Amino acid sequence: MSDTMQLRQEMVETCRKMNASGINQGTSGNLSVRNAEGFLITPTSLPYDLMQPEDLIQMKFSGEYEGARRPSSEWRFHRDILKARQDIDVVLHCHSVYATTLACHHKTIPSFHYMTGVAGGTTIRCAKYATFGTQALSDNALEALQDRLACLLGQHGQISLGKTLSSALWLAIEVETLARLYVQALTLGEPPILSDEEMGRVLQQMKNMSYGLAPDLEGVNDTARAANAS
Ligand code: 13P
Repeated sequence: MSDTMQLRQEMVETCRKMNASGINQGTSGNLSVRNAEGFLITPTSLPYDLMQPEDLIQMKFSGEYEGARRPSSEWRFHRDILKARQDIDVVLHCHSVYATTLACHHKTIPSFHYMTGVAGGTTIRCAKYATFGTQALSDNALEALQDRLACLLGQHGQISLGKTLSSALWLAIEVETLARLYVQALTLGEPPILSDEEMGRVLQQMKNMSYGLAPDLEGVNDTARAANAS
């Protein structure tokens, strides 16, 4: 199997895992991966259980594309994020229920729980609303993703980024879990927020342990173990 066909196959498998994990349903959601020619992206309006590897679209950063199908309506934010963020190679978007519930209220996820740090900072921001598929939505998403690996999209959904398909999927599920916890915590009143000082320690600890990166980096656990032991 060629490298491109293998990547297409892995993207289809990740899309099906998005559905199986409950973070995605119907024809919402889209996925892209950087490659030598630009990036591969899911087609618009095609349910993942029907999608085949050849349905994925090869796009260039200019916006030109090849293939029988049309690219996701959100190709602009996929293109712009992959272009601006050389630290990641995968962009995953979905309308997971609890993240979208918070996004409907334009709520940022604060550091009510230390795991908020997995997105790279003390908050998971919510991008301002703009019509789906527009450059304005892409601009708003890029702003909310500054120094972060995930954001909510106002009255829309969430975006999670990763070096690999498995890390982007892992993060999207974590963001959804945090959103669910936050919605539940709010039912008992506004929860206390961890201080910036404590979140600094959490972020350092996550960095030392390469926390959440284990599926990406071969041997990273050995390095992390050695770093922890010293
Ligand atoms: P596409 O089917 O065009 O990818 O759109 C789904 C979506 O989530 C739009 O924001």
